[in-house]
Amino acid sequence: MSVDPGFWQGRRVLVTGHTGFKGAWLTLWLQAMGATVVGLSDGVPTSPSLFAAAQVPSGVTDLRVDVRDADAVDRAFAEHGPEIVVHMAAQSLVRRSYRDPRATYATNVMGTVNVLEAARSTSSVAAIVNVTSDKSYENRELGRAFTEDDPMGGHDPYSSSKGAAELVAAAYLRSYDLPLASARAGNVIGGGDFSEDRLLADVARHAMGGPPVPIRNPTAVRPWQHVLNPLSGYLELAQRLAAGEDVRGAWNFGPDPGDVQTVAWLVERLSELWPDELRWEIDPGPHPHEAGHLALDSTKARTELGWRPGWDLAQAMEAIVEWYAAFLADRHVRSVTIGQIERFSTLTAR
Ligand SMILES: NC(=O)c1ccc[n+]([C@@H]2O[C@H](COP(=O)([O-])OP(=O)(O)OC[C@H]3O[C@@H](n4cnc5c(N)ncnc54)[C@H](O)[C@@H]3O)[C@@H](O)[C@H]2O)c1
Repeated sequence: MSVDPGFWQGRRVLVTGHTGFKGAWLTLWLQAMGATVVGLSDGVPTSPSLFAAAQVPSGVTDLRVDVRDADAVDRAFAEHGPEIVVHMAAQSLVRRSYRDPRATYATNVMGTVNVLEAARSTSSVAAIVNVTSDKSYENRELGRAFTEDDPMGGHDPYSSSKGAAELVAAAYLRSYDLPLASARAGNVIGGGDFSEDRLLADVARHAMGGPPVPIRNPTAVRPWQHVLNPLSGYLELAQRLAAGEDVRGAWNFGPDPGDVQTVAWLVERLSELWPDELRWEIDPGPHPHEAGHLALDSTKARTELGWRPGWDLAQAMEAIVEWYAAFLADRHVRSVTIGQIERFSTLTAR
């Protein structure tokens, strides 16, 4: 693991989806390393948001662009001439994808085509990291971790749109020889997630006076990890691509096997750590299909990149509790967030 702050100092980085949960964390990390960040998103997806609470817009070029609008994406690239592109903009929610498959495919598949097209015609671009998901794999519930060679698929519109985005990236790589890597990360948790239907966001809503945390799939197994873990992998990939190393293609970034746990396990541990009583109840549904078992084999990232999860799940949960305590007290959210990034990055810095 070696994120090199010197590499990022003054680097022009275009982040799509910078207003979202992962995008806001990445943007703050890049700011902290002195990068010149151009963020491209269609809006701020939640209220509250990490983006607002940690004052992410101060210090970035904050563009409102829909990735479905190819001309607008082209213009943003032409105007800002990025060296590094991290593509994270997506309709990222499984349950919403059942309700609105058309917008999900348009954003996640054609949005990826539009970003790759713009990158292809921008001569300054030296590295592109395309962010997809552990859900992009065809999940036959075999109970084993996916490796990068497993076939793409997806049961629901979100998962299959991410599988399709991977196929798009693979075709662009073969056809146009771009400096392009695709990253598949598991269930990402951290302070500042307020998305609908996400477990940590439901916990936050409960802590803000909302109903007990609804537990939809208590036995579902997920590769939980702190958001900064996969982000360190994305930064590492970008550094190496820009240095001309052949790290093109697909990469898994998942936690150690001990951190692949059920939803019920995570909620129980979290309620032990949470300062106030955390009430939760099983939501009997009916629920749309979600994968029962998801795990990623990250041997390739470990052996070829030297990547490791910087924080294990216990450290992730401590950081999460610290973050929401600051948020709920309306105190120092930006400095707590940056403080966590600094703590984490001392582990991952070169
Ligand atoms: N959070 C997770 O657990 C997780 C797990 C695996 C993969 N991912 C992937 O990581 C990426 C970021 O996830 P997140 O959790 O931060 O999602 P998020 O929903 O919090 O943020 C999504 C971002 O994409 C932007 N966006 C959505 N539609 C857009 C459009 N049409 N045009 C421009 N911007 C648009 C939103 O404004 C926001 O900035 C996504 O690609 C997601 O699929 C997330």
